[in-house]
Amino acid sequence: MSVSTAAAAPSVRAPLPVLGQDVTVPLVTGGEVAYAALDYAASAPALQRVWDDVAAYAPYYGSVHRGAGYLSQLSTDLFENARRTVAEFLDCRTGDQVVFTRSTTDSLNLLAAALPDGCEVFVFETEHHASLLPWGSPHAAGRRGSNARVTYLDAPRSPRQAVETLERALADRDPHGPALVCVTGASNVTGELWPVRELAAAAHAHGARIVLDAAQLAPHHPVSVRDLDVDWVAFSGHKLYAPFGSGVLAGRADWLREAGPYLAGGGASRTVTRRADGGVDVEWHEGAARHEAGSPNVIGAHAVASACKALTEAGFDALVAREKELIRVVREGLADVPEVRFLSLFGDDAPRVGVLSFVVEGWNGSHFAAALSAEYGIGVRDGLFCAHPLVRTLLGGDPGTRGECGAPGAAPGGKSFDAVRVSFGAGTPDEHVERFVRAVRELVRDGARWSYRTVDGRCVPDTSA
Ligand SMILES: Cc1ncc(COP(=O)(O)O)c(C=O)c1O
Repeated sequence: MSVSTAAAAPSVRAPLPVLGQDVTVPLVTGGEVAYAALDYAASAPALQRVWDDVAAYAPYYGSVHRGAGYLSQLSTDLFENARRTVAEFLDCRTGDQVVFTRSTTDSLNLLAAALPDGCEVFVFETEHHASLLPWGSPHAAGRRGSNARVTYLDAPRSPRQAVETLERALADRDPHGPALVCVTGASNVTGELWPVRELAAAAHAHGARIVLDAAQLAPHHPVSVRDLDVDWVAFSGHKLYAPFGSGVLAGRADWLREAGPYLAGGGASRTVTRRADGGVDVEWHEGAARHEAGSPNVIGAHAVASACKALTEAGFDALVAREKELIRVVREGLADVPEVRFLSLFGDDAPRVGVLSFVVEGWNGSHFAAALSAEYGIGVRDGLFCAHPLVRTLLGGDPGTRGECGAPGAAPGGKSFDAVRVSFGAGTPDEHVERFVRAVRELVRDGARWSYRTVDGRCVPDTSA
């Protein structure tokens, strides 16, 4: 990763101001407590700075690329400036394109719809479904890229094995045909960092291109397209403290230019003319607008740009250092609780972002997460985290079906049905992580203080008594 190296060790600072810090939630056991949002990997709270920037712009809101009025011009400038800010944030190359999308999922589906004919796609089974599923999927039938051939690579057990696995897979392919490798920068399950630069080098050595799913990386680490030498990068605004419905696909322009527009409509089309035979001829834009049909989400793009600036100004050295400290608090705080097992592909000491998943012996994940919420005001996530093949591998195979609340999901030595994920970032106060550690210890030692029942497959506090 391109974590810049400052001469002096960065100081560990206070969290960045985010919305929601004063929100209190009721406890099932009585009273209220400040909500501890520890599900950043799903969606992070908005940075106060992002909120302020959006509020400052809101009165000036106008249609982008469409109106002659002053506010339309201003909004168009803001939108195009946001593109430039994102390009700087990602350290893009000259000629790279920044396309505003709805999310990482949308970005990767856009790239999937732009694959050249006969493209081979290589993807590890460990990916989030957003990176695992768009390639060669039936929804793309008839579009460019719809005849892609996908090779799913087995979960590696070390970064080195990841590179070796990819190299082996690529060695057998025709080096003249188009190929794409899709890899995540940081796992949404284990938080572990993937050897992106090395995978990019392997891809390029075999004539393949590579797209980086930075949904979990960009909020925690600097991402340099140039330094990592990736062809594209995708991320989501709502995980980057900018929850206003925008995502990004940035990178090489050629495949995007050669593909038909992702959505057909206004904004993507330069001219539309009626033909003598009754049909229409369309000349599509060649730049980013080609894939941004419809009225652009200028507030979303502005929010993403604001977050990019805020994180850059805060300094990733300090953010990374602080997050490492929070990870240490969790790991060391639970090190002497043998019932808690953290999930990991590359080993406990592998470099990671603030995303940790674990199973608790004697509990199913839904029950444990429900108790953290109802009894401690802590919001985490449970389940398989839209990465079913990876989590099943980490849990040791197919665990069967989830038992009722309170029925042990993992008897000693047995397999768990699901896992619990705690995740945090730039806005997390120490107290949230400390409360989480205390809560896990108490729940494991004393059990839940409330009873829970299963409703629609999820555990919820039983309030019928
Ligand atoms: C690694 C990774 N990739 C892609 C996605 C999809 O992001 P979105 O839901 O914003 O499209 C996620 C979401 O959790 C993720 O963690």
